[in-house]
Amino acid sequence: MILVPGGRGQLGHDLAELSSGVRALSSAELDVTKVTAADLAGATAVINCAAYTAVDAAETDEDRAFAVNAVGPGLLAEACASLGIPLVQVSTDYVFSGDGDRPYEPSDPVGPKSAYGRTKLEGERRVLESGGYVVRTSWVYGVGGSNFVKTMASLESSRPSLSVVDDQRGAPTWSRDLAAGLLELASVLPAQRLLHATGGGETTWFGFAQAIFEELGADPSRVMPCTTADFPRPAPRPAYSVLSGAAWAAAGLRPLPHWRSALSEAFQAGVVAPRAGAAPLG
Ligand SMILES: NC(=O)c1ccc[n+]([C@@H]2O[C@H](COP(=O)([O-])OP(=O)(O)OC[C@H]3O[C@@H](n4cnc5c(N)ncnc54)[C@H](OP(=O)(O)O)[C@@H]3O)[C@@H](O)[C@H]2O)c1
Repeated sequence: MILVPGGRGQLGHDLAELSSGVRALSSAELDVTKVTAADLAGATAVINCAAYTAVDAAETDEDRAFAVNAVGPGLLAEACASLGIPLVQVSTDYVFSGDGDRPYEPSDPVGPKSAYGRTKLEGERRVLESGGYVVRTSWVYGVGGSNFVKTMASLESSRPSLSVVDDQRGAPTWSRDLAAGLLELASVLPAQRLLHATGGGETTWFGFAQAIFEELGADPSRVMPCTTADFPRPAPRPAYSVLSGAAWAAAGLRPLPHWRSALSEAFQAGVVAPRAGAAPLG
């Protein structure tokens, strides 16, 4: 049985949907900041989806973010090592500075600009030190949580137009595709321990928002491009955080589908609840 702490989040939800061999635990059932080997009894592997993911809030709450994103994975890694079972830790593109202009390889230098990125990086370090796996991903959305896709769908229904930043590049990732990839990783257990897994291709938040409007059957020209400077946020975001999937493929793992086709599939799978009275698409 694969134990999934943080099992009520977006990714944990999809891991549980995809495999009956997954036991997804809420934060009340398993708090990673206090986990011991006894909590993992019966597990054959652990995929850690528990995280402090409020990127802006982490700027003023770094101690709590550190406890969940660094201390928790460290404790899990020690517990898994003592039991001799693999740990897969999920990490983020925000460990990179974003100053690059070609997809980041796992071996590229890191340089987080935010508290969230710093705490996730320390979690990576602790997991790798204990022999666990780290999989970095980006721009995750799914049925089981609040995310950019749901926010855009809600704004589409309430505003005539909106502005979305067009100077941050990355790769949207459907949590179900990532969940399938992590299950494959947990069965293959390749030699390479630090990997990247995101939707294929790349876009900006603006491009992503236009695609969401297309999927909603709305006019994408209602989405206007703007710059990061137009919408200052507490946490700086990397301007370029596309992650290369080359190491993932070289490890014998199936590349995740392209972000655009994944978005269509996610809509068909109900990532956004259909509006009451809306005409069926197609
Ligand atoms: N979302 C993204 O865009 C994105 C991008 C890159 C990487 N990632 C990484 O991908 C992974 C999964 O993200 P996600 O989008 O599925 O996150 P999510 O929906 O925010 O879920 C995170 C889960 O962690 C749980 N949690 C928080 N503190 C915990 C604790 N002390 N012990 C156990 N569980 C705890 C939360 O439970 P409560 O609600 O009960 O607190 C929540 O269910 C994370 O490692 C995240 O850093 C996400």
